[in-house]
Amino acid sequence: MIGIGNDHAAVELKNEIVAYFKENNIEYIDFGCGEGEVCDYPDEAKLVCDSVVSGDCDKAILICGTGVGISIAANKIKGIRAACCSDTFSAKYTRLHNDANALCIGARVVGEGLALELVNVFLNTEFEGGRHQRRVDLITKLEK
Ligand code: RB5
Repeated sequence: MIGIGNDHAAVELKNEIVAYFKENNIEYIDFGCGEGEVCDYPDEAKLVCDSVVSGDCDKAILICGTGVGISIAANKIKGIRAACCSDTFSAKYTRLHNDANALCIGARVVGEGLALELVNVFLNTEFEGGRHQRRVDLITKLEK
């Protein structure tokens, strides 16, 4: 189950990603802002990330104008490793090496085609574990 959330700057891109989920039979919960609403990205980050921490969702896709604000907010939540990506190499390696559980995208930064590639790579790349687990554990230690 994928949790998706967005603020008012990212409604259109959210709708495009939701369409991609539907086409690919990916189960999702849309926590995001709808057309004509104004939503604050920290609130959106919390809603979606809480669902990941509780186990209701496996991963989060978070979108705001830059992707940066929502990633800063998401990374305040214990158990969340959020990566703001605008290239597929980073989206792939943040799964392989960081076991990132939230992908943040800037709707004013990347176009629809790249955004869907980012989501696809992020959702289909498994954490490598091994030596990277120790480093992820060190990140978790920073939360204490
Ligand atoms: C909202 O206008 C905008 O500030 C927000 O979407 C985001 O870009 C913040 O990082």
